Amino acid sequence: MSHSQQNEWTPIMETKVPIGAPQEATNSKLFSPLTIKNTTFHNRIVVSPMCMYSSKDGMFDSQFHMAHYGSFAIRGPGLMFIEASGVLPEGRISPEDMGIWSPAHRDAFIPIIELCHKTGVKIGIQLAHAGRKASTYSMFRQGTSAAKQGVDDEHGGWTPNGPSSIPWNEHFRVPHEMSEEEIAKAVAAFGQSAKWADEVGFDVIELHGAHGYLINSFLSPLSNHRTDKYGGSFENRIRFLLEILESVQQNWPKDKPLFVRISASEWHNNPDEESWDLDQSIKLAAILKDKGVDLIDCSSGGNTPTQTFKPANPEDIKLVDAPAPEGSEGTTINHHTFGSLQAAKQDAEKIKNPMVMFQLPFAAAVKEKVGILTGAVGFITHPYQMESIIRSNKADLVFMAREFLRDPNLVYNAADQLGVKVQWLRQHERGQYM
Ligand SMILES: Cc1cc2nc3c(=O)[nH]c(=O)nc-3n(C[C@H](O)[C@H](O)[C@H](O)COP(=O)(O)O)c2cc1C
Repeated sequence: MSHSQQNEWTPIMETKVPIGAPQEATNSKLFSPLTIKNTTFHNRIVVSPMCMYSSKDGMFDSQFHMAHYGSFAIRGPGLMFIEASGVLPEGRISPEDMGIWSPAHRDAFIPIIELCHKTGVKIGIQLAHAGRKASTYSMFRQGTSAAKQGVDDEHGGWTPNGPSSIPWNEHFRVPHEMSEEEIAKAVAAFGQSAKWADEVGFDVIELHGAHGYLINSFLSPLSNHRTDKYGGSFENRIRFLLEILESVQQNWPKDKPLFVRISASEWHNNPDEESWDLDQSIKLAAILKDKGVDLIDCSSGGNTPTQTFKPANPEDIKLVDAPAPEGSEGTTINHHTFGSLQAAKQDAEKIKNPMVMFQLPFAAAVKEKVGILTGAVGFITHPYQMESIIRSNKADLVFMAREFLRDPNLVYNAADQLGVKVQWLRQHERGQYM
């Protein structure tokens, strides 16, 4: 692995304080650090994995990727994830998806990892295999995700793999039912990719066990109709994930954090048919905890087109009271007046989206029942919602996706609204003052 070309005089990290870390004592829990094994996240804000469908042959190699991920890397989240990256070429969702299936793919991540290590932002990679949802058009090539269709061989597609030969819907390609040898190949590929991720300096791995992709499709009795040791009982359906976990742990240092993203419920709307639900997720999370997984990132859905999402019970997502601010209230130190936690709470209470934080109860239940760290994700938009999630102990990290697309300065803006003075990037510091 070669070091990337860079100039050495850049003052990017002259302060030695991670970008986005508080510069003085604060009441905020969102801006409190979290240490997992050898890694300290300087705040609880995570850039959630987001496919950009912009790779050629799976490579992180474009000007676009550096600009896109770089924009977050210089603006202070505690952790930034690289999007779902295929451990095998056939494990990509679309032909334009990212991958980590060769040393060349590994080395392509060097510039972004080096940048993160200078700014103090921890960087993770989500290892993925799309399974029966592979070989579909990205939104750039054919409409929106609602209109997703399988890509045929002529247009760069391939036959996807799955636990059973059941297509996701009639527009997707019919998957090939994986043999035990093919399962072993996928398991080994996760391990090999983990090895490369470590060699190149990633701080965190997240296994993508959600959204109907390969791991999730093995977990669910709706998509897994196998009669061998990988299908049928709960113990058999989780076997594929546990084998992947073992393979990854053999190749990923014991002192580096390892996360698993799950679909805590697949929201199946037919109670007469057995599907994957929160009870099984809790059971699985307890097993994963025993085996050394550090955090469960609680998403949901994606395995069946008939899913019916439901809003959370308002009591379960109620914002907790804000404590009195510590010294910062009313102090004008930049073009904003630093607000207080109370003011931020009142502002957050005005948000009336019915789906707001609808997956938070999953993170809270897994955390409470299993005693494992969790990540909350989905329809979280306001800094006080983020603050409240950590403050109420419902989750340990807040994964943010679309809000980061709307506002790459989310960390600075959240700090501002919560009344926290954080380290800015040296080159941008003058932007704080009028
Ligand atoms: C453009 C885009 C790409 C996404 N790609 C991934 C992905 O690679 N892996 C994943 O687990 N989730 C992916 N997601 C889901 C997000 O990580 C997140 O769970 C979801 O958007 C809900 O969070 P939000 O309300 O903050 O957007 C993607 C979401 C978006 C908007």
